[in-house]
Amino acid sequence: MTARGSAIVLIGFMGTGKSSVGKALARQTGLPCLDTDEMVSTRFGLSVTEIFTRLGEEEFRNAETEAVRQLAGTGSAIIVTGGGIVLRPDNVRMLRSLGRLVSLEADVETLFSRIFRRATRPLLRTANPHATVVELLRLRDPLYRAAADLRVDTSTLTHDEVANAILSGIEKL
Ligand code: S3P
Repeated sequence: MTARGSAIVLIGFMGTGKSSVGKALARQTGLPCLDTDEMVSTRFGLSVTEIFTRLGEEEFRNAETEAVRQLAGTGSAIIVTGGGIVLRPDNVRMLRSLGRLVSLEADVETLFSRIFRRATRPLLRTANPHATVVELLRLRDPLYRAAADLRVDTSTLTHDEVANAILSGIEKL
């Protein structure tokens, strides 16, 4: 069996609270929090939306994979990933070597209200963003499930409650 690191890696769809829960986990544990979207954004000096618009999704996905590769050797840390990280099996394989993968989930109504509360994400700039969310969820849900060591439904929980559920869930793995 391949050795696994001691990081906590958050995966899941847009709006499941990965970034906020990552910060709560970092606060509670004192561990550093690394975020693949931020790594990609820093690399280009552009926001994620600008990268999609100016360079295209493929370029973003390549940089995202490169960011995951750069995380190799990260010890104990909280790692927050973008919602599409599970699209490439190589990303999942590398992330699993870093530590435990925790899938954050939420019911679709909760996702709608969280996702559409702020500026539209680049992938949801479509004629029917709600239908796009439903379709992306249908395609990705099996990928999040297959990759996850632990799954947490965040629909009715605060960020700190999710962080507590993750820490106690991981202890039992
Ligand atoms: C994406 C999710 C975003 C970001 C990019 C693509 C996706 O991250 O990586 O817009 O494919 O689901 P969040 O999940 O943090 O919104």
